Amino acid sequence: MKYSFPEEFINKIRESNDLVEVAAEYMTLSKNGDRYRGLCPFHREDTPSFYISAEKQLYHCFGCGAGGNVITFVMNIENLDFIDAIKFLAERSRIPLPQQQFDSGYSRRYKLQEELFRINLEAARFFVNCLTGSRKAKQYLKDRGLDVKTIREFGLGYAPEGWDNLLKYLESKGFTEESIGISGLMSERKSGSGMYDRFRDRIIFPIIDVRGRVIGFGGRTIEEGGTPKYLNSPETPVFTKGNNLYGLNIAKKHTDSGEIIVVEGYMDVISLHQRGIKNSVASLGTAFTPSQGELLKRYSRNIVIAYDSDAAGHSATIKGMDVLQSVGCKVRIIELPDGKDPDEFVRNYGSEAFYELVRKAPSLMDYKIKLLERKYDIRDRQQKFDFLHEAAALLARLDSSLELAEYVKEISQRVQVYESALRKEIETVRNRDKGQNRNIYGKNRHNNSAEEYNIAFRPANIQAEKNILVMAIRDANFRKEITSKIEAEDFEDDLYRNLFKIIKSKYIDEELLPADLVNFFHDQEEINRVVAVIDAELPLDGGEAGKLVEDCIRTIRIHKYKTRGMKLKSEIDRLASKADRTQEEETALEKYWSEFVDIQKNLRGL
Ligand code: UTP
Ligand code: MN
Repeated sequence: MKYSFPEEFINKIRESNDLVEVAAEYMTLSKNGDRYRGLCPFHREDTPSFYISAEKQLYHCFGCGAGGNVITFVMNIENLDFIDAIKFLAERSRIPLPQQQFDSGYSRRYKLQEELFRINLEAARFFVNCLTGSRKAKQYLKDRGLDVKTIREFGLGYAPEGWDNLLKYLESKGFTEESIGISGLMSERKSGSGMYDRFRDRIIFPIIDVRGRVIGFGGRTIEEGGTPKYLNSPETPVFTKGNNLYGLNIAKKHTDSGEIIVVEGYMDVISLHQRGIKNSVASLGTAFTPSQGELLKRYSRNIVIAYDSDAAGHSATIKGMDVLQSVGCKVRIIELPDGKDPDEFVRNYGSEAFYELVRKAPSLMDYKIKLLERKYDIRDRQQKFDFLHEAAALLARLDSSLELAEYVKEISQRVQVYESALRKEIETVRNRDKGQNRNIYGKNRHNNSAEEYNIAFRPANIQAEKNILVMAIRDANFRKEITSKIEAEDFEDDLYRNLFKIIKSKYIDEELLPADLVNFFHDQEEINRVVAVIDAELPLDGGEAGKLVEDCIRTIRIHKYKTRGMKLKSEIDRLASKADRTQEEETALEKYWSEFVDIQKNLRGL
């Protein structure tokens, strides 16, 4: 890949965007000594093994081996290529791009998005002001039990009656008709041209993303029986329904208890929040999408679903829960009493009662089996078989044999069949599914290559190559020593050789910022290995370090001589066993011999 940005520009962009700050916009980080730690956004895990070094400006996951600097982080998490990641970070840090880059499609899109965020923010302010001025709207929220603090925290507002209040306001702020039109805040007139306010006489719920930007709105009618009950922003360049979760911007700061609660409605999130349950998000009326799952799991892998009692058992809902599980979350389900949603529940019974439901919430598997038990009357023989068939199909997907054993025992007791019969049924399902790919987690983006590479019995010379690079990066004096004693050709490992070349050609007399090294590599697997070198734990000081460097140089040399020696030996053997050698072969043989002798001498001297 050829980059069209100068190296200094790339380094400047990297230095202007603090990795810890950028990463914190996407995930929860906790400070851990001089490092930050969190759940790796790039693979599935339950305990955090993703580390960021603020000093080195690098991240490194000890679980999947993913590593890199702020640029590769943005590439991976925003799904951008290198060029777009640079532009993304340039905009973020308000550094102008080199001139020729201005007109690219990416920049235009980015500019439009920025404009829409500004429009949305202005609109949100407008709605908040209108709420202050509307007795009716304030009364409505009061009747729904919300206090002023909560209203402010969620930025609730009111869209007044009338056709063009917001339109006029936005125009007065200098936004163009075109961008106001794209914002989704207006509807097109059916006849002729022009547009009018989409939200009128509605309570407004701004939808805010995890980075704190207003991306869209929901508006609830105040009129009893008004339709639609909720009107939402349409899809816009900054709002895709299935990609966002209402309230995650707030819930992400309250995940200490471990789980995140998924509810259906705006009001559920807000009402729970007001009563101290601040870790809930709403799926915005749709079934859970995979991208919502990916988003959510960055903040917690422990999900509790609290859908309205009528919705919880629906197949679309269950599918959504499966989605969550398939992206690696542990899912539990709360069953609310008849006809209640979380808002009404906490209002009636209080937060303690809700916590109790959370504590008792059964796992997704338990819940599904419970649903089956409700569906079939197992006293009826045929229905009992149907129940067992469906239960076996569910259980066949369990990976853990311990869990499977538990379920088999419990269910067979309850239904009165032999455990062995149920097991046999499960086996049958599994055999039928074989050949199909049973890996519901999909392909891990970073695979296991880092693990594969870190085989315990790595050849000593490769380990030594890595170690001297570790030392060369760490210390300018070692850098000089090593580059004067070792040649690029001495490296057997291609990546290490390249790294060595870069260090030697650029950083002998210059300061080496480890995170800059990453920019010389374009393949994510390579980047992971580069970071593994930079981040390697070699807790050595002074004398020890010098000794290590010496040892490694020797190891590399020994390896070099030995390989060369073996090659010479086999050439010599081949030539020597020939009956009649040409003059050329005779000369070659002699040359090989003397080199071989030299090598033996060198080896003895090491
Ligand atoms: P509900 O109908 O359960 O509403 O829809 P609710 O949250 O209990 O609302 P209140 O308590 O009557 O005010 C759940 C969610 O589905 C979406 C909204 O996101 C809502 O919060 N929805 C519902 C819509 O988008 N449009 C609708 O017309 C209805
Ligand atoms: Mn409700």
